[in-house]
Amino acid sequence: MPTITYHHSDGSVDEIDVVPGTSVMRGAVAGGISGIVGECGGQAICATCHVYVRPEYLPALPPPSDDEEEMLEETAAPRDPERSRLGCQLKTGPRLERIVVDVPEEQ
Ligand code: FES
Repeated sequence: MPTITYHHSDGSVDEIDVVPGTSVMRGAVAGGISGIVGECGGQAICATCHVYVRPEYLPALPPPSDDEEEMLEETAAPRDPERSRLGCQLKTGPRLERIVVDVPEEQ
């Protein structure tokens, strides 16, 4: 079962197990994890699911689509050119059994 770990700016950490196919955003919303809003429900049109992916997990991710790139220019917290992604576009599965992200201070 895939695992998603969320590190918060206050130092707290949430770790949840999810069914394969669950996105980083859906896992947070369903798991009651604060700091990820997911206002548009995963349509890549709100940027309230912005996360910073820990570098060791970046190679397992597909590159951002043009739509995701566009929304990453609209994040409330500063964009990190290497690590910023939309959590709704990061889906767990066989190629992504584990992912660790830092949750921005604001969305
Ligand atoms: S949930 Fe809206 S962009 Fe990800």
